Amino acid sequence: MYAELRRELIAVKFCKPLVANPDYDGVELENEIHALTEALPAKHPRVIEAFDTYDDGHIQWLTTRYMTGGDLQCFVNKFPWAVSESLIWHIGYQIAEGLAHLFFGANAANNMSPAAGWPCIFHGDIHLGNLFLGPAVSGKSLGNFPDLVLADFGESDHYPASEQVPVTGFVTYLSHHVRDLYNAGKALEELLDVLVVDGRTLARDSVLLDGIDRFGAIRVEGPKKVSKEGILKLLSGFMIVADEQRRKYYQPMPADAAASLVAEKVSDGDLEMIFCRSGSHSKPKKGKR
Ligand SMILES: Nc1ncnc2c1ncn2[C@@H]1O[C@H](COP(=O)(O)OP(=O)(O)OP(=O)(O)O)[C@@H](O)[C@H]1O
Ligand SMILES: [Mg+2]
Repeated sequence: MYAELRRELIAVKFCKPLVANPDYDGVELENEIHALTEALPAKHPRVIEAFDTYDDGHIQWLTTRYMTGGDLQCFVNKFPWAVSESLIWHIGYQIAEGLAHLFFGANAANNMSPAAGWPCIFHGDIHLGNLFLGPAVSGKSLGNFPDLVLADFGESDHYPASEQVPVTGFVTYLSHHVRDLYNAGKALEELLDVLVVDGRTLARDSVLLDGIDRFGAIRVEGPKKVSKEGILKLLSGFMIVADEQRRKYYQPMPADAAASLVAEKVSDGDLEMIFCRSGSHSKPKKGKR
């Protein structure tokens, strides 16, 4: 009945009036609004799309695309059997795409090179619960695999694009970016644990473990190795291997997991409650004229 309305669903994050909510200082939502609507110079399919925002210093809200597949943590809890090596590579590939955009504005179209004047945003809170899934844009992904977006930018920050990075300051400057990489590696490791715990053997484990390890390794390689170029090289190198591997060993996700990406998680009853509550907009009650 509400099929058309359901297609228009968006997600809303809001902060209650700050006076009524003294424990919350509003900074997280403010950060997120800033990152998604002001700091990032361009949209990207791997970053949650923000539609609209409001902030009068008292009430804040942000609307974004509603991701029908939910977050990756919930997905994995519900469908551990859907986690294959190929899917882990795919997820890793898409996380790397997202980070390359955030950090440097680098993408396939500009040959993975840093965009001039990019503000070098970092996410600050990469974990499975902040990676959301949706159905893939048709023809642009792999088989029935989902598309992933980085979301929940409450901990993110960036450096002014105009700021000259002192050579000796590289480590501090990029330490948050390195932590994003490390956390991305951790998230992939958690997926790997699901695969192993589920009793399946890892035929190609060494390549996968090696690929994941590199995300964390940059953290301990020492200050001299950490530079913009180093991070970008790591991301693009990982993407080349990940793309090869996800295609080589592709196996479709089971039907239940694939269907959940587009499942109607908001029932007709929920929508009726939201849009037809009491008051002047209420739906006329049948039989009560
Ligand atoms: N755009 C979205 N589409 C679908 N589900 C979303 C979206 N944004 C948030 N959610 C879901 O809503 C819930 C609350 O998300 P939110 O990011 O506000 O808080 P949180 O993730 O619980 O908090 P935190 O990450 O700060 O610990 C989560 O279960 C999340 O998966
Ligand atoms: Mg979250």
